[in-house]
Amino acid sequence: MSENRSTALVQVRHLKQYFPVTTGFLRKTMLKAVDDVSFDIEKGETLGLVGESGCGKTTVGRTMLHLYKPTSGEIWFDGTKIEGKEALHNFRRRAQMVFQDPYSSLNPRMTVADIVAEPIDVHKLCPSKKDREDRIRELMSLVGLNTEHATRYAHEFSGGQRQRIGIARALASEPEFIVCDEPVSALDVSIQAQVINMLEDLQHRLGLTYLFIAHDISVVKHISNRIAVMYLGHMMELASANELTRHPLHPYTISLMSAVPLPDPKASRSQKRIVLQGDVPSPLKMPSGCPFRTRCSRATAECAAQCPAMKEAAPGHFVACHHL
Ligand SMILES: Nc1ncnc2c1ncn2[C@@H]1O[C@H](COP(=O)(O)OP(=O)(O)OP(=O)(O)O)[C@@H](O)[C@H]1O
Ligand SMILES: [Mg+2]
Repeated sequence: MSENRSTALVQVRHLKQYFPVTTGFLRKTMLKAVDDVSFDIEKGETLGLVGESGCGKTTVGRTMLHLYKPTSGEIWFDGTKIEGKEALHNFRRRAQMVFQDPYSSLNPRMTVADIVAEPIDVHKLCPSKKDREDRIRELMSLVGLNTEHATRYAHEFSGGQRQRIGIARALASEPEFIVCDEPVSALDVSIQAQVINMLEDLQHRLGLTYLFIAHDISVVKHISNRIAVMYLGHMMELASANELTRHPLHPYTISLMSAVPLPDPKASRSQKRIVLQGDVPSPLKMPSGCPFRTRCSRATAECAAQCPAMKEAAPGHFVACHHL
């Protein structure tokens, strides 16, 4: 087993996830969903991960948790590289995921008790039936569910309550790290804040570390310590939430920020919106060099020739762009 001395709870190094896809008669090609992504997450931190649909956010989350085997790259957790059966089994107890869609991620024919107890049973965490029942009740009250509803089926619950069931399941193995994959995007706007506040509250009470995935910077701005921006499987910018939202440096982040409405109506009226030209290219037809260059106002020949590496533009502020 390999070890290292970094203080970060999670370290992702040169992670790649390529999916083989069929593009025509007997023609196979590799879809590069995540292409050489590296970052750290400190203990107790929330790292927001944002970007447009299809840029690879879910794939990063799932590959980090080894729900998909990485094409290449390394995941380190608490100083240990995740490789081999034993490290993986141990990691699977300590790292969990809350899924985007609480309708498809819970089996409607299972009772709440059985859904929540799944990780308890897999990792054999409660030796007696009584312990198991007590633990299910404890988890249900932790996420604000009525413990008398333990024998009801998932389909009997509303979207918000289903997501609470999903969160209780994720907490059942007492994880230290949770990937929250757009946990509120499928929910009514009226209950989104409740669920986000609950996740924040649980983080403080249980000392959790989050990777919080969202489409939109405005969703993660307030709850993230740092934010990472992805585009077409690549990391474009990473900085503290404050720095990234006030002084975005990458042209892509600048355009994303220009779409976030400002709270002050006067400032909002004078805000310049940058509308990106064209669509996101297909990940099967990646532009050469910088993946953003086909939509970038600063693009030059250098951008077509070479993919820019992440550089530290200011302390803790990383950007992948040739033209800062
Ligand atoms: N199992 C798979 N097989 C083949 N291609 C996949 C698979 N999963 C994802 N992809 C492709 O990988 C790319 C990244 O998808 P991913 O779901 O990670 O994006 P995302 O940023 O989470 O998008 P969204 O915001 O819509 O959830 C997309 O082009 C998608 O079509
Ligand atoms: Mg996704």
